Amino acid sequence: MSTTLKELVAQLPSTVKGEPRHIGTAVMPDMLMENAKYADIISTEFDTVCVEHHLKWEPMTKRGECRYDFTEADLIVDWALNKGLKVKGHTLVWHVTSPVNTWLREKTDMEIREQVRRHIHTTCGHFYGRIHSWDVVNEALNPNAQFAKTCFTSNKFTPEEFIGDSFRWAKLADPNALLIYNENKVECSTFAKSKAMYALLTELKKQQVPIDAVGLQSHFDASAVGWKRAATPQQMLEQIDHLGSTLQLGVNVSEIDVRVGKLPLEVRDLAQCAVYGNSMKACYQSKHFDGTTFWGFTDKSTWVTKFYSQDQPLLFDLELNKKPAYDAVFTALQELVEQQQNLEDWTQADWAPKSPNDSLLPSKQQKIADLPDWQV
Ligand code: G3I
Repeated sequence: MSTTLKELVAQLPSTVKGEPRHIGTAVMPDMLMENAKYADIISTEFDTVCVEHHLKWEPMTKRGECRYDFTEADLIVDWALNKGLKVKGHTLVWHVTSPVNTWLREKTDMEIREQVRRHIHTTCGHFYGRIHSWDVVNEALNPNAQFAKTCFTSNKFTPEEFIGDSFRWAKLADPNALLIYNENKVECSTFAKSKAMYALLTELKKQQVPIDAVGLQSHFDASAVGWKRAATPQQMLEQIDHLGSTLQLGVNVSEIDVRVGKLPLEVRDLAQCAVYGNSMKACYQSKHFDGTTFWGFTDKSTWVTKFYSQDQPLLFDLELNKKPAYDAVFTALQELVEQQQNLEDWTQADWAPKSPNDSLLPSKQQKIADLPDWQV
């Protein structure tokens, strides 16, 4: 039976917090229900799913104020749990997918704050015990590394206050879930947004806000240059270790996809394999790295073609067959497993100096074995 991505990741050492790593994918309900091959690949290759759109505030309250429709989110969550997969909740508070243009629009600052509190308790309460981790707040920073001016930030509440409140409410609503701050363009510690995010996280930790981890979205364009250029694998590893060791936060790659549509056809696979393979090999080396979520796994269902242009950013093609990018990720994980195994073999190799008791006869060894440690 061929090994799968999740079987390789399961062989990697746990994180510094003693947690197993994960490898997952974002999921859309229609594909999951209509395409058996789509569903089979998810349950075979991944140990975690993330609801790509339907667990956000706006889609769940299309029927109006506080009239929740959890149907599509429940469908994905319960399918995943039935398959023994974990669920990463995405996302409780994001101005882009909150009902700011519908029933929330007329509300005052204080009313909005109360609505956020109610939303977090309602949603975390509904999914209680079914969601392993929550992206509590997503993308509070804008591309200029400033706090995005949204309905949640006002002259009454600083961004740190609304973000801190959101995490405190989530902790109250689901004390067992890991709570994550999720951001894009922060995969390298020297990026301007990374510095702004680091300052925010430092302040939140100082205020003892219950935040467990950070999500580095990692939406990469292999052809991008300048400030849009993707972080290198080494920069990602450095950023993960920096966030983990100085802020004691877990770090995950939360939404990776690698756009190649602007590259010449003949180099697209080469570039995509290099970015995926080398990034995965770097990230999973860190003891602070919790795991990866691909932002979809097939080019048949990717936000990129709707929000950018025709592209092939994922691991499986339009017919849901493995691409070279899948092989690059597989090989990277396999090499990490073998490196780890070699490490283990190496420490147990024959050359290792024998313990002083190895030369004793079995009976004597047995006798020593019966003694308490302090007498041997
Ligand atoms: O479900 C409706 C469908 O009924 C309707 O016919 C159709 C009309 O266009 O819209 C469908 O909803 C769309 C939904 O995706 C499902 O396809 C929404 O309009 C569309 O806005 C939504 O886009 C999602 C977007 O977040 C907003 O939720 C993308 O799929 C999703 O990939 C994207 O993901 C975000 C992360 O949450 C945060 N980080 C950035 C990332 C990419 O933008």
